[in-house]
Amino acid sequence: MSDQSDPNKPKKTIADLFQQLALAQEEEQSPAAPPKPMESYKFWKTQPVPSFDEKVESEGPIDTSKTPETVRQEPYPIHSSFEWTTLDLESDHDLDQLYELLYDHYVEDHDATFRFAYSRNFFNWALKPTGWRQDWHIGVRVKDTGRLIAFISGVPCDLTIRGRDIKSVEINFLCVHKQLRSKRLAPLLIKEVTRRVNLQNIWQALYSSGTVLPRPVSTCRYGHRPLNWSKLYEVGFSSLPPNETKASMVAKTTLGSEPKTKGWRKMEEKDISTVWKLYDAWRDRYDISQIMTKDDIKHWIYGGHQQDGKVIHTFVVEDEETKEVTDYISFYVLPFTVLQNPKHKQIGIAYLYYYASTVGLGKTNKDEENQELLKKRLKSLVNDAMIEAKKVDIDVFNALSSQDNTLFLDDLKFGAGDGFLNYYVFNYRTSHIDGGMDETDHDFGKNGSGVGVVLL
Ligand SMILES: CC(C)(COP(=O)(O)OP(=O)(O)OC[C@H]1O[C@@H](n2cnc3c(N)ncnc32)[C@H](O)[C@@H]1OP(=O)(O)O)[C@@H](O)C(=O)NCCC(=O)NCCS
Repeated sequence: MSDQSDPNKPKKTIADLFQQLALAQEEEQSPAAPPKPMESYKFWKTQPVPSFDEKVESEGPIDTSKTPETVRQEPYPIHSSFEWTTLDLESDHDLDQLYELLYDHYVEDHDATFRFAYSRNFFNWALKPTGWRQDWHIGVRVKDTGRLIAFISGVPCDLTIRGRDIKSVEINFLCVHKQLRSKRLAPLLIKEVTRRVNLQNIWQALYSSGTVLPRPVSTCRYGHRPLNWSKLYEVGFSSLPPNETKASMVAKTTLGSEPKTKGWRKMEEKDISTVWKLYDAWRDRYDISQIMTKDDIKHWIYGGHQQDGKVIHTFVVEDEETKEVTDYISFYVLPFTVLQNPKHKQIGIAYLYYYASTVGLGKTNKDEENQELLKKRLKSLVNDAMIEAKKVDIDVFNALSSQDNTLFLDDLKFGAGDGFLNYYVFNYRTSHIDGGMDETDHDFGKNGSGVGVVLL
């Protein structure tokens, strides 16, 4: 799908924002192609990660020599004007500081028109799942002023990779103040979070980045589906394709007003056990997935205590005769603040999260007959989820080429974004996992992917 031929593709996308952070990539290159030789990765070449050309003879941990006792017990030394800090996300002061750091210095576009509009609920959801640890919310402050200038976080996230269960964390929200970039603070933050995780006898970590580092286990592409085309156009997020009018674009992207799937309803607390069973059986479809306990489902998929200003929205399908829940689907919400626009202050953005359907249970993507049934089912579920998203003021619905998403992305008018998301597992060797792109590595594939884990 080229930029010109795809009328639904927003002009600026979150994927583009990630892309702008990536080191220069040739358009014709594979998205996961190394932008520089392994030797030039001054930090990463010292870490237990596979090099780009390494052949995987056997899958598993790379460095198994350490124990929590042999790990450095003190924080790494830091420049004398800075100090390590552990953020207390229960405190308004620390939450505000984290908000300000990420608002001003996390991912943004070239013109700085759009910023992630984080909320207290979002941080509570993303950074305080079951088993969260305060000492994995790591900041760096200026000693004299107490100003927060860098952050990195870890949260528990056990994985299954090709049938093997791995105790692990997810590392996210790495951010360094713009004026302190290129001073090797990022490697220091990565080493410090690794040390603190290792002290808990955990040796693997999942992380993702638009930047190509040694070495992605998979690479997925973003897809974007406009739900409110006029608004996206007015804020400069979408362009008007040649041979189209504003009215034709609105007509092309209009969804129905109510979900059509029979038995469709909001997930309730009583559904947690069933959704958990569905989640757990469904993840067998993928090469890499997250292990979730019932409490994890309550937090990540039901949304726990958060019912107002919810970040996570989940719907189930209840069979009208048996009253059994047969499917669930969820999306999370992270809007953009729009700067310098007289009419709009915010763009509502939803990201497809986890889903499962009894239609695909116990089947693989090699089963062609089942794939057709699943495709039909997922198209209805995602379409209805987008209708729900529109009701809570979402303007654009994003999904990656991960999970089984490529079964519906094209048909449901998702435009392929410019950006790619690379997935990494620290201290683990595994052969490449299908990220849902076709053989050119630039279009969506047609038959799902091996990536079953969703990173925020
Ligand atoms: C990502 C960020 C923290 C890097 O900081 P920096 O000051 O540019 O880089 P530093 O000089 O401290 O460190 C450079 C090293 O970090 C590595 N690095 C850069 N971005 C990285 C990332 N997202 N994840 C892991 N390592 C990264 C570089 O490859 C380099 O290591 P190398 O010598 O082995 O190649 C900073 O650019 C930033 O805050 N960006 C905005 C937020 C963001 O994009 N976060 C990551 C989201 S995935």
